[in-house]
Amino acid sequence: MNTVANLRNLAERWALPRHGRGVRPPPRRSERRTPQRGADGGGERLTSRDGTPLVLRQIRPDDVEALQRFFHRLTPEEVRLRFLHPLNELPDAFAHQLCELDPAVAFAWLLATPDDPAHPDLPIEIHAVARAHLDPVLDQAEYAIVVEGRFARQGFGSLLMRRVIASARKLGATELWSDVLLENGAMLDLCAKLGFERGMSLNNPGVVRVSLAL
Ligand SMILES: CC(C)(COP(=O)(O)OP(=O)(O)OC[C@H]1O[C@@H](n2cnc3c(N)ncnc32)[C@H](O)[C@@H]1OP(=O)(O)O)[C@@H](O)C(=O)NCCC(=O)NCCS
Repeated sequence: MNTVANLRNLAERWALPRHGRGVRPPPRRSERRTPQRGADGGGERLTSRDGTPLVLRQIRPDDVEALQRFFHRLTPEEVRLRFLHPLNELPDAFAHQLCELDPAVAFAWLLATPDDPAHPDLPIEIHAVARAHLDPVLDQAEYAIVVEGRFARQGFGSLLMRRVIASARKLGATELWSDVLLENGAMLDLCAKLGFERGMSLNNPGVVRVSLAL
């Protein structure tokens, strides 16, 4: 059962500074981008195994409804692995928060169907999102990722994670980390391939803290 308090906790998971680790790095260089609808925000064109045309680009404020549709296509298990607990819906306020990012401290890469300049009112669909939020005190960035099942095992998770790593570096993060459920072999395998180290998550034996020094 999801409550407003649960949703607030989720939102806070992206907003709260975490203390106790890390050395303060040199000043950040912020990525400031203003993606334009119809131009894919300078995105990279890709094609999935089943022939679906996709674009890899940063999230935009007008992605709110597509993000909510994406959320509804995810299985309860994918949602649980992504958010670490069940979540039945993505309310408007939370969806806006996930799309309207402060580029000085947050970014989100996604895979979506391309905009069609000839039909600008046609909705696009999102099929994967990987995001990170920088703790401005410690300059450590927390990430999360989810790839829709239909598009999994095609290298998109690795591609998105590489973008997240590069963007976190550009923001000036010294470390990229996430809490991953111990049973989430797919994410732990992917992290191992990308060079993440595994540690314990304090107070939660079912969770692994993965981290990558940047
Ligand atoms: C984890 C996840 C992002 C991987 O995305 P993906 O697009 O399938 O990843 P890739 O195709 O790039 O696979 C990269 C590697 O990850 C590992 N991997 C991915 N899916 C796996 C699976 N089902 N079982 C075991 N390993 C898997 C493999 O090592 C794989 O390399 P390989 O294909 O050469 O064997 C995706 O499964 C997902 O969204 N899961 C649900 C949400 C989640 O767990 N998020 C993590 C919370 S931070």
